Amino acid sequence: MSQPNGGNFDIVILGAGSGGYAAALRAAELDLSVALIDKAELGGTCLHRGCIPTKALLHAAEIADQTRESEQFGVKADLVGIDMAGVNAYKDGVVSRLYKGLTGLLKQDKITIVAGEGKLVGKDTVEVNGRRYTGRNVILATGSYSRTIPGLEIDGTRVIASEHALKLDRVPSSAIVLGGGVIGVEFASVWKSFGADVTIIEALPRLVAAEDEEISKAVERAFRKRKINFKVGKPFEKVEHTENGVRATIAGGETVEAEVLLVAVGRGPTTANLGYEEQGITIDRGFVITNERLHTGVGNIYAVGDIVPGLQLAHRGFQQGIFVAEEIAGRNPAPIDEAGIPRVTYCDPEVASMGLTEAKAKEKYGADKITSYNYNLGGNGKSQILKTAGFVKLVRLNDGPVLGVHMVGARMGELVGEAQLIYNWEAFPEEVAQLVHAHPTQNEALGEAFLALAGKPLHAHS
Ligand code: NAI
Repeated sequence: MSQPNGGNFDIVILGAGSGGYAAALRAAELDLSVALIDKAELGGTCLHRGCIPTKALLHAAEIADQTRESEQFGVKADLVGIDMAGVNAYKDGVVSRLYKGLTGLLKQDKITIVAGEGKLVGKDTVEVNGRRYTGRNVILATGSYSRTIPGLEIDGTRVIASEHALKLDRVPSSAIVLGGGVIGVEFASVWKSFGADVTIIEALPRLVAAEDEEISKAVERAFRKRKINFKVGKPFEKVEHTENGVRATIAGGETVEAEVLLVAVGRGPTTANLGYEEQGITIDRGFVITNERLHTGVGNIYAVGDIVPGLQLAHRGFQQGIFVAEEIAGRNPAPIDEAGIPRVTYCDPEVASMGLTEAKAKEKYGADKITSYNYNLGGNGKSQILKTAGFVKLVRLNDGPVLGVHMVGARMGELVGEAQLIYNWEAFPEEVAQLVHAHPTQNEALGEAFLALAGKPLHAHS
């Protein structure tokens, strides 16, 4: 007997996170009918368990630090304490307003929302609760989950992942953060600002190891100053329960004790038991392999977001979702240049980057073809007003365009918009140097760096 029919659509989308819902919205704009399937809330990890709630915590952390340090601005204030119930109410309020907005956007004739767990049962069919939804095209957008390492079990209380850390009803007195990548440094930063004693354990030789080496050094310097402990260069070995918490052992035998251990060793693609392989889709280490047009090579099945190898970032998911909707509508969109995707890590100090690190640029073009320049925020008026330290680093191809922009310091994330335009438009430093930056803004630091790289420094000490 055939399964009851959920309907026929131009596109069936499995997963309503950043990638999936962006595809749905763009497809609806292009007059295509869509079934958007999700077993949880619309908005996925980014909205409910990732970007948005974490950045709300980081903002509360910044307010705590500013209160603590207010005296240096001549303002007398005492930090009485962190009321986690209040912090969580603020954070949850932000999420629920955005959730309401998104639900409103998705409530339209062209989009059918299907609540439930979906499974790919044919090249054009997803089954949800025994009902079959058929699409002329299918988009897989099932996202990612917090990974752990073999033998390390996330129990949700003492050994936790980021989704648990976001829901803590207290500030832990102490925390071990396993992994000094993006999630690791962001939570270390929040917890330290809230008053916890924090130790990061990172196997690679430096924190935020994907960034330019000088950026890692600056973050480490700032963390040392903030008394955030970190142990780099040796992998974590094991964790044991103690009376009130956990004890972690690092290769070589050193141990660290704390109330909780946050596992932040990367996110794995959610692709198991969803019928992907059964339909002939190529899976490599859990990821869905696609061509540059995000097609899986099977039927009319596409994949977007964290299940596709590359940067696991919400804005990449949005762009891929838009791309696939346009592709299906026959608009022939330009493929997304993965190197042109901006990256921001929202710890204190913030890190923002575009394009190639100096090391990667030298590897690609040869050391003699590359020039780099660091503009210290010490020369930037607004950064001095904010009392932040850091720099803007530019990497250029000699007689050629800007290949990389790397920034560290308070609020640097807000500068990445200009950096991505410069990078993606393949601007030459001489061209950017002609453009006027408002004074006094931190944005000016970018302008000053370009002036210097174009051979006409203004407020720059050599
Ligand atoms: P990550 O890949 O950035 O960092 C994981 C770190 O754990 C690496 O530095 C790795 O060397 C380390 N590690 C792995 N095994 C280890 C071991 N046995 N002992 C010690 N260290 C070990 O992954 P993360 O931070 O979990 O983030 C996951 C994803 O979420 C990333 O792709 C990231 O881009 C994304 N994300 C983005 C944010 C943003 O854009 N601001 C914020 C948070 C997450």
